[in-house]
Amino acid sequence: MTSPDIAERADALSSRPGAEWWRTAVIYQIYPRSFADSSGDGIGDLPGVTAHLDDLLELGVDALWLSPFQRSPQKDAGYDVADYCDVDPLFGTLADFDEMVQAAHDRGIRIIVDLVPNHSSDQHEWFQAALAAGPGSAERARYLFREGKGEHGELPPNNWESVFGGPAWTRVVEADGAPGQWYLHLFDTSQPDFDWSNEEVREKFRGVLRFWLDRGVDGFRVDVAHGLIKADGLPDYTPPVEADSMGGGEPDVPYWGQPGVHDVYRDWHRILAEYDGDRALCAEAWRPTPDETALWVRPDEMHQAFNFPYLQTEWDAAHLRSVISESIRAFAAVGAPSTWVLSNHDVVRHASRLALTAENPQGHGIGPLSPGKPIAELGLRRARAATAVMLALPGSAYIYQGEELGLPEAIDLPDSARQDPTWFRTGGERYGRDGCRVPLPWSATEPAYGFSPTGAAWLPQPSSWATLAHEVQVQDRASTLWLYRSLLAARRAFGLGDGTLEWLGGYPDDVLAFRNGNVTVIANIGSASIPLPQGDVIAATGPTVDGTLPVDTAVWLVGVQA
Ligand code: GLC
Repeated sequence: MTSPDIAERADALSSRPGAEWWRTAVIYQIYPRSFADSSGDGIGDLPGVTAHLDDLLELGVDALWLSPFQRSPQKDAGYDVADYCDVDPLFGTLADFDEMVQAAHDRGIRIIVDLVPNHSSDQHEWFQAALAAGPGSAERARYLFREGKGEHGELPPNNWESVFGGPAWTRVVEADGAPGQWYLHLFDTSQPDFDWSNEEVREKFRGVLRFWLDRGVDGFRVDVAHGLIKADGLPDYTPPVEADSMGGGEPDVPYWGQPGVHDVYRDWHRILAEYDGDRALCAEAWRPTPDETALWVRPDEMHQAFNFPYLQTEWDAAHLRSVISESIRAFAAVGAPSTWVLSNHDVVRHASRLALTAENPQGHGIGPLSPGKPIAELGLRRARAATAVMLALPGSAYIYQGEELGLPEAIDLPDSARQDPTWFRTGGERYGRDGCRVPLPWSATEPAYGFSPTGAAWLPQPSSWATLAHEVQVQDRASTLWLYRSLLAARRAFGLGDGTLEWLGGYPDDVLAFRNGNVTVIANIGSASIPLPQGDVIAATGPTVDGTLPVDTAVWLVGVQA
C-alpha cells in the first residue's frame, strides 16, 4: 500500500466514528503472544504489532484490543498478572508500548488494553506478602483466604470448582511449615482471587486504570467482569452437569453476576469520564441472555459487553434471528449498542465450531480424539457466511486475529505442545484453548510462516497453513482476507454500524434476510439453493449460481426493491 493510501485510510478511520466511537467500531483482538514475533524467541511481542499496523489499517478496523502483555509468569498466557503497570519483557518494554500506541493513533486506530481484576498472579507482590504475613493479616485480607473444614482444616472451605477443572481452593503451608489456610482461585492455582469487598483492592485498581489512561489508551476490556464479587458466606454451589464453566448458561451462581459487582463499574465509569476522547470499558461477562448481559452496560456502567449469547448460537436461522432481535432490543433498552463476536482466544475458532457435529462445551476445545470433528471446507464456508451476517449488524463487532485468514482450530496439536491450564488441570480430559491460539501465518515460505525471524513458535503451526498465509491471501481477490476487507469497507461506506435492522419477509424460514439501510443481506442456512432477488451484489461469501444463492452462503446487495 502506498503512503497516500495509508493517509487516506487513516483519515477515514479517525474522522468516522467520532464521539462515542465504540458504538459502531470494529475492534480487532490481538493475542500478543501469537500475532507477530519481532525478537525471534517464538512469542509474539509489541514491536511485532507495531510492524503490522499498516496491515490492520488496510483490513479496515477501528481499534485493537490486546490480550494481556503486562508482567506475568504466563501460567495462563498472561491472564495471571504479577505487575499491572509494566510490560512483561517477553513482549517488550513500556517504551515499545508507547511507540505502538502512537503509531496506531497516527493511523486513526484506537488501543484497548486488557484488565484482569478478578485475580492476580500468585507471583504478585501482594500475594507473596499475604503468604508471608499469615492468617488474620491485612495482607491476607486482599485475597479470599479461609480456614478449611474438617477436624484439622483439611477440607476446602466450600465445594466450588475451578473454571479450568479441579477444586477452586488451594491450601497453603504457613511460615511454621504446617498446613494452613486455603485461598480461592476460580481459575488456576496460580491465579488467587482478590477480595473486592476490601477498599484497598478497589483503590489499587483505580490507580491501574489511571496508569494506562494517562498513557493514552482508549479503553479496557475487563476480564471476568461478572466474577469480582462473591456471595456472602461463600455458600456451596453445584453446577448442573455439562454447565458452561464461565456461567453463560446459569442464572444464580454465588460467584457469577452478583449484584454488588456493578458498583465497581460505576466507580470506573466516573474515572474514565474524567478523561477526554470517549474512553470505553468492555465487559467480559458470560451471562445466559442478552437482557442479563445488558446489566453491565447501563448508562452509568460499562460502554460495551461482549455478546456471548450470540457467539454461542449454533448455525440455525431461527435461533440466530431470535438472538439478534433480542440483543438489539435488550441493549437498546439501556441505551447501549449491541456488540457481536464469533471468535476469541477462549473459544473454538468459528471456522471449525460452526461445523462441529458433537456437543462441545465452552472451554473444552477439540483435539485429535474429540468426537464430531468438523469438515474444514464446510466450516470455512459457514464461517464466511456467519461473518458477513455479523458485519452487517448495527452496533460494534469484534474480530479475533486470524479469522480474517479463515484459520480453523488447530485440532492436531501434539499433547506435548499443549499449554492451557485446562489441559493440565483435567489430566488431558479437556483439550482446552490452545487450538485457537496458534501463531499467525504471515508468509508461505519464511520460517514459522513469517511469524518469527528464527522460525520459533510457542505452539506448532499446522503444515496446511502455508496456503492460508497473509501474503498469499493478499494476492488472491477470492481469499477470506479480501472478503473481510471488502465487508469492512462496505460496512463503513454504508454506515451499517449505526444503521437499523429490519427483517425481511418472503424468504424460507431457514434463510436470514434483513435490510440495514440500503444494504440487503441474505444468508442461506437451509439445505437447498434459493432464488436471489434483483439487485447488485456488493459482497458474496461464495459463488452465486445463475441468480441463486447456494447453501451456507451469504450476500450483501444494494438496489433491491422493498
Ligand atoms: C478470561 C480470559 C481467559 C482467562 C480467564 C482467567 O475468561 O479470557 O483467557 O483464562 O479469564 O483470567
